Amino acid sequence: MKQEIARIKEKALEEGVPIIKDEGLAFLLNVIKERNCKDILELGTAVGYSSIQMAKTDEKIRIDTIEKNEEMYLQAVENIRNEKLDGRIFVHFTPIEEYRTDRRYDLIFVDAAKAQYGKYLEQFLPNLKEDGIMFFDNMVFHGLIYEVDTITSRSLRALVKKIIKFREKVLNDERFDIIMFDSIGDGILILTRRNREA
Ligand SMILES: C[S@@+](CC[C@H](N)C(=O)[O-])C[C@H]1O[C@@H](n2cnc3c(N)ncnc32)[C@H](O)[C@@H]1O
Repeated sequence: MKQEIARIKEKALEEGVPIIKDEGLAFLLNVIKERNCKDILELGTAVGYSSIQMAKTDEKIRIDTIEKNEEMYLQAVENIRNEKLDGRIFVHFTPIEEYRTDRRYDLIFVDAAKAQYGKYLEQFLPNLKEDGIMFFDNMVFHGLIYEVDTITSRSLRALVKKIIKFREKVLNDERFDIIMFDSIGDGILILTRRNREA
């Protein structure tokens, strides 16, 4: 019988729900294991695919994940319940911009509106533990950051320019150490605090 997680992935792909690519996911799960991340915040739940995968790496992991689309939210809640992970994955049905918490996280996985990455960074930086990491997906945006001038759709070009600007901004921000993995998945950017106390 097909595994529940394989079914969730297949359905998401069939329905055009954007979920993390296999390569990006493998990399993310590896980072979680290597850095022993237990408290995770995810921005952008979709149907719960990545949050279920993250939770499965270790039974001590606890995840808050945020989704504003009701249909996605309801599917995520159902998928997470079917996987019996509803005691460890908490889906918050709200726009990310309105989400506030005092919790601090080992990992913040940013996978929602690409144009808002700069805002999300400032909004959730206080929630990142001193030695925590922020993990941004879609940093090459299907390769479009390399051919921005050839994009004919104005809105798409504006979005891709925002991603490029975000990359440049964080690279030049003295508060952070940045590592970019442009050839992994859809491009991954990892951010940590510079000069943090060990
Ligand atoms: C790329 S998908 C997330 C995929 C998921 N992390 C995975 O890999 O399985 C992005 C999701 O973010 C949600 N989203 C986008 N902007 C948002 C916002 N401002 N507040 C809450 N959710 C948002 C979208 O509805 C969409 O479901």
